Amino acid sequence: MAQTRRRFLKVTGGAIAASTLFDVEKLFAGPTFIRKDVGGLTSASSDLVSYGNAINAMKLLPNTNPLSWGYQAAIHGTTLPGPAQPAWNTCEHGSLEFLSWHRMYLYWFERIIRKKSGDPNFALPFWNYESSSERYLPPPFRPAGTGLFVPDANRGSGWNAGTSFLTSSTVSTAGCLPQVPFGSFSNNLEGTPHAAVHIAFGSTGGWMGSVPTAAKDPIFYLHHCNIDRLWNVWLAQGGGRTNPLGDSTWKDKKFLFFDENGKQVWMTGCDILRAQEQLGYVYQNEPPQVKEYCLKLPPWWWKYLYEVIIQWPPIKLPLGPDPGPIEIDIRQFRERLLKIADDKNAGLVLQLNDVTADRQPNVFWEVYAGLRKGERAVPESRNYIGNVALFGGGVHAGEGHGSARTANFELPLNDAVRAALAKGDQTSLSLQFVARGAGSKEQRQYRNDAAVTINRVSISVRRPEQAKS
Ligand code: C2O
Repeated sequence: MAQTRRRFLKVTGGAIAASTLFDVEKLFAGPTFIRKDVGGLTSASSDLVSYGNAINAMKLLPNTNPLSWGYQAAIHGTTLPGPAQPAWNTCEHGSLEFLSWHRMYLYWFERIIRKKSGDPNFALPFWNYESSSERYLPPPFRPAGTGLFVPDANRGSGWNAGTSFLTSSTVSTAGCLPQVPFGSFSNNLEGTPHAAVHIAFGSTGGWMGSVPTAAKDPIFYLHHCNIDRLWNVWLAQGGGRTNPLGDSTWKDKKFLFFDENGKQVWMTGCDILRAQEQLGYVYQNEPPQVKEYCLKLPPWWWKYLYEVIIQWPPIKLPLGPDPGPIEIDIRQFRERLLKIADDKNAGLVLQLNDVTADRQPNVFWEVYAGLRKGERAVPESRNYIGNVALFGGGVHAGEGHGSARTANFELPLNDAVRAALAKGDQTSLSLQFVARGAGSKEQRQYRNDAAVTINRVSISVRRPEQAKS
């Protein structure tokens, strides 16, 4: 039992061939690859040279070849005509498997690049955009003539020119890393920085802004390495953080990929728990990786218990300019809200659940609570509580996998409530949604082009509770 759980199945021709089972840990006993911060690399760095060369080689293959650039991107999502091939459109968004699926995808993709480039030391770099020196598209991706280049028409304006950038609210991990239960962390991370970074490109017209085209841009894989790295960083913070090892779908659901020889391979959550030990890679400067095991549940972990204080009817974010402020009457809740906001063992959260859109939005929204008339909506203010950013999850446009699912966000309210109610005369708490996209020198006004509905809106109190295995 212990052994089979730690294997993944290698299959040929679509049928599971038991004779090709192999042991992950034995296979990856070799060298550890280091996924480096792209901010420390140049166009001449071997990882980027090899990446560009491999992409060029893969682009020569027909889209029906699993090792082609077109096929690999299509595994994530595609609009390619013709019959769908095995594993196309299988990315997971708006589900618990968001992080695990993308880890598997990167792993096999990286092995293919390694082989196609002929560089046995190749590892995918990560885009460390939260660092203030890495907010622009990494320079090696900008000039025409290498495999890393994508023309403005498909990357969006200003990225290759070095004038569009990711704003601080686009890349912030402040809304996800402090979340302790996996689901809350994963949902918030999938929103920001994940979806917000995609949308920053989408707001300028880039492939990255939509699930069926995103993985055609080579920068996609560096973005996702950073998301994958943040998963490790989160786990290393400890304090009862753990993967959903009690969830059998998360552990055992099989996903299809292709190895560097074009053979089908199936993987499960249990195969990718320990990046270094099972998959042979670490991230530059990451804390020691936490080792989790499918058959060894942690003795305890934290979950959250919620109690709804105020429920609000659905909020619509209409097409065009931003909606005006939404005023939530708090007269009968004032004292209670203030008391909870000061309670160290509880948290007020704005829960925005079951968020759907009729198509992939070209903007994300910064959310402000308690702004008064005349106060400016800037992410530095205490009234800024996080983002609503949709990418795939919750998008009902037939845009590939995950589209039937919804997106959920949990935004901390303690600070904003304290700031808003401190003056003692407030009878309502305003909620404001401000559309944002790529940053640029000249202030851009973003206009939403999708009909978005936040179906369940509530202010809740959240209390952490220890759960036992
Ligand atoms: Cu499957 Cu960033 O997307």
